[in-house]
Amino acid sequence: MADMLVNLLQLPPLDPLIDGMRQAGVVVRRAAPHEITRVRRFVEEHFSTVWADEISVGYANKPVSVFLAIREGEVIGFSAYECTRRGFFGPTGVAGHARGKGVGLALLVASLHGLAQMGYAYGIIGGVGPAEFYTRAVGATLIPDSTPGIYADPLSDAGPPSSAKPSR
Ligand SMILES: CC(C)(COP(=O)(O)OP(=O)(O)OC[C@H]1O[C@@H](n2cnc3c(N)ncnc32)[C@H](O)[C@@H]1OP(=O)(O)O)[C@@H](O)C(=O)NCCC(=O)NCCS
Repeated sequence: MADMLVNLLQLPPLDPLIDGMRQAGVVVRRAAPHEITRVRRFVEEHFSTVWADEISVGYANKPVSVFLAIREGEVIGFSAYECTRRGFFGPTGVAGHARGKGVGLALLVASLHGLAQMGYAYGIIGGVGPAEFYTRAVGATLIPDSTPGIYADPLSDAGPPSSAKPSR
């Protein structure tokens, strides 16, 4: 559950990823407050209540700091930033059946551009699971001595995101 650092000054361009997704029938766009219940249901069903709680903060930001991936009107993935701490990316997740098709990458890059637009030069990916995904996608590097980071001393009944399934 280490944190990772991302250089936001060297992000891949977002438009080609969004266009590619659209050609594959997937819309990647910013979430909106009127969808909170639907999205929360998706996150709880596929991931955890903890992650649904974390991204709920993003709906209070303006612009909303949550991105969705949508296929045929249904949520298939999400990413969020500036929720758990300032300058943090996460959580993010793609439904099992939709993985391995570039959806997670598009959601990641969309949110990281959101952080960059806020003025951050570097972003932090909090409590990562698949570190290799972040390194390959955006050159993220592990931050030394970053465990347990912000998820120390969890409540016993809820637990940190690391206890969510799957973990991150
Ligand atoms: C991690 C996750 C969001 C990736 O979504 P995805 O849509 O499958 O990812 P993509 O298809 O966009 O993959 C982009 C690249 O990352 C690689 N990749 C994807 N998941 C990976 C993983 N877990 N470990 C290593 N590499 C991974 C892909 O092979 C691909 O590489 P390529 O471009 O060289 O082929 C998804 O697997 C997921 O929801 N996992 C469970 C929740 C989770 O762990 N979230 C992260 C919290 S920190």
